[in-house]
Amino acid sequence: MAAYAMCVMPIQVRPPRRDEMNAYYLALPYANGLPSWEPADAAWHGGPEPWPPQRTPATAEQLEKWAEADVEDESFHPIATFADGACVGASATISFDVTVPGGTTVKMAGVTATAVIATHRRRGYLRRMMQAMFEAALDRGEPLAMLSASEGSIYGRFGFSPATYRVRWELDRHEAALLPAAPDPGSLELVDATQAKKFWPMVHAEVRVSRVGELAPLPGRWDGLSDGADGTNGPLRYLVHRDQHGDVDGIANFRLPWSSAVDNAGTLVVEALEATNPMAYRALWSLLVDFDLTRTIVAPGRPRDEPLRWMLASPRAMRITRQSDNLWARLLDVPLALTQRSYDSVDELAFTIDDDRMCPDNNRTWLLRTGSATASCVATDQEADLTITVSALSSLYLGGMSAHDLTYAGHITPHSDGAIGRLARMFRIDPEPHNSFGF
Ligand SMILES: CC(C)(COP(=O)(O)OP(=O)(O)OC[C@H]1O[C@@H](n2cnc3c(N)ncnc32)[C@H](O)[C@@H]1OP(=O)(O)O)[C@@H](O)C(=O)NCCC(=O)NCCS
Repeated sequence: MAAYAMCVMPIQVRPPRRDEMNAYYLALPYANGLPSWEPADAAWHGGPEPWPPQRTPATAEQLEKWAEADVEDESFHPIATFADGACVGASATISFDVTVPGGTTVKMAGVTATAVIATHRRRGYLRRMMQAMFEAALDRGEPLAMLSASEGSIYGRFGFSPATYRVRWELDRHEAALLPAAPDPGSLELVDATQAKKFWPMVHAEVRVSRVGELAPLPGRWDGLSDGADGTNGPLRYLVHRDQHGDVDGIANFRLPWSSAVDNAGTLVVEALEATNPMAYRALWSLLVDFDLTRTIVAPGRPRDEPLRWMLASPRAMRITRQSDNLWARLLDVPLALTQRSYDSVDELAFTIDDDRMCPDNNRTWLLRTGSATASCVATDQEADLTITVSALSSLYLGGMSAHDLTYAGHITPHSDGAIGRLARMFRIDPEPHNSFGF
């Protein structure tokens, strides 16, 4: 009997070649018309009757178009897993600049579009792709990775941890009276999608400098804005605010979806709103919370610290109907990341990291010295004030999370009196970090 040697092809984790891009996309749910995460779109973006976007499998023409664009795009870094010659897993990082405390930006690897096909899950392929993406990001000089998590239990094991929140709130129009304020010297204007596409990048460029967590979005971010009908969702409407000189300093996208249910009729959904100053912010909301023929205002994807609450005669009227983590952070190069943000307190703290399995260079005791202008972070032999997990430090990095809570939960162990209070004062910021766009 002849003996046949089985030829087992090794697993390969590497960037796909141009001629493998179609197979790469087809490992991802969205290219097959499937949702990446079932309930999230509907829960966040809709009014009271949420509308999941219609999804259809990508056509051959679309796949080709994506491939054309992605191979040209220097900020897009795909990674794939090949088993027996077939693409069975896919992920990617996108190089972003994210605003950090102090108003500077840090280079960040945004992990996006991640999946392993159903027949090949739980074999360690995601872990291998993640390791490869971390190493590539470090080679590009990106000290930080971020993502938004489809499920809360997957990414902690890779060192990611929540760093920003988002909330969805509702307001009954009859309770939405605003406290008196100085008259607005500017004006409001409804504009079409062509103008909105022009104004959004201008407003966002200014907003993101002062909001920690905001990203410089990728080119084309607003290309999809249109005046077209969108079924029962209703078309998107665009409202801009101009200051007394006629310059646009705020913009909002909103819809008036149609509902067959009497209870849900008259809902106005504010899908996005950004303003560069309090006057523009107030003026935009003033119109949107008192829009004729509406009864309820819904705003998904908003920061937790919404100044509108403090403008209402009844702050309680704003009801948070959903809150979730938004961006998760993962420090890849601890000293580089920590010296690229600034700190309000002048202090020094020695901390030990000893749990980083994927970026082992982070495992040592570091001395962080914070000053009014610069910070330094160097390896030290001195006794540590505290031990902290790399994920807890990642959560603290943007300044929105509580050192006290992380300590209470066992992610930080203090070794000296007052260490946690000093850590908290060093890292915490106001306003909270927030990011308006997913990726
Ligand atoms: C989530 C997904 C990408 C994981 O890929 P995978 O190759 O199966 O993951 P791995 O085998 O590398 O698992 C790595 C670790 O994560 C855990 N894990 C993987 N998927 C998980 C899940 N859905 N929930 C909880 N833990 C999970 C594994 O148990 C393993 O744990 P360990 O390191 O402690 O042993 C894959 O299951 C998938 O495509 N799911 C559907 C699509 C999806 O949810 N994509 C994410 C969009 S952001």
